[in-house]
Amino acid sequence: MAEQKVAVVTAASKGIGAAIARELHERGYKLGLLSRTGCKELAEELGAHGVAGSVTEEADIQRLVEETVERFGRLDAAVANSGRHAEVIAKHKVTGIPPATYRNLNYDPDLKNDIFAVPWGAWHDDLDLIVLNCLKLAKAVTPHLIAAGGGAIVNVSGMESVQPRATYPLGPLRLALHGFTKIYSDRYARDGIRMNCLLPGMIENASSAGNQEIVDAIPLGRFGGLKEMGSAAAFLASEDSGYITGQMIVADGGLNRGI
Ligand SMILES: NC(=O)c1ccc[n+]([C@@H]2O[C@H](COP(=O)([O-])OP(=O)(O)OC[C@H]3O[C@@H](n4cnc5c(N)ncnc54)[C@H](OP(=O)(O)O)[C@@H]3O)[C@@H](O)[C@H]2O)c1
Repeated sequence: MAEQKVAVVTAASKGIGAAIARELHERGYKLGLLSRTGCKELAEELGAHGVAGSVTEEADIQRLVEETVERFGRLDAAVANSGRHAEVIAKHKVTGIPPATYRNLNYDPDLKNDIFAVPWGAWHDDLDLIVLNCLKLAKAVTPHLIAAGGGAIVNVSGMESVQPRATYPLGPLRLALHGFTKIYSDRYARDGIRMNCLLPGMIENASSAGNQEIVDAIPLGRFGGLKEMGSAAAFLASEDSGYITGQMIVADGGLNRGI
């Protein structure tokens, strides 16, 4: 019988993180889940180990990983998801950010926002929330993945990085995460550890969900499903993607195309 696989997922109480946890559960993974509220309901539903803590705190991430390994005996995969930066923007009272529209999803010569209006505190908080969280999780899980003979790490990023908009720090900061992903995947490839990023586009739980102007701009003609993000991340976390590492996988219904 194949050995039971084990994974940790951060920021997993709802949204994309919860969808990823459900998909991994369907694929037979035992799970450790982290969020500030502890993912209680989902952990109960999936027979997972729920931990209350923040992705910005290294000690909380370390606790998630150690307790999961202690409970389930090994670790094969990790998904570094995070909260949305809307909370950071609200905390620092950043104003003047236009909602995503058909026009400003990509380069817009008429968009003349003051790119220096974002306070330094918001840059630092976003760095903690969406970049350093991934480094902290990678640091915590690497010894366990090596012990398991290899594994996979998936960082949840976002399509803002493909065409950074002159409105907020998300785009440039996500590019920093992609740089780390390339370095990490080089360093640990020979240990059998792969690292990739998933870049969601406009997903059904976004505040602009249903905006017809945006729907019209998306080649697939709709917002992405949470379940679709779950299956894309589960693919990257599992051996199904065994020959893919150091990649940024855009899941945006065709809005952005590289290469
Ligand atoms: N949805 C989209 O359209 C979209 C598109 C591109 C990229 N993304 C990215 O995907 C990620 C997830 O987005 P989402 O739409 O799924 O968000 P969401 O529905 O708002 O869910 C956020 C999750 O993060 C947890 N969380 C928030 N802050 C946390 C912290 N400091 N420590 C631990 N957990 C925390 C929340 O649980 P608690 O409240 O219990 O902590 C919740 O489970 C974000 O990085 C977002 O930028 C989303």
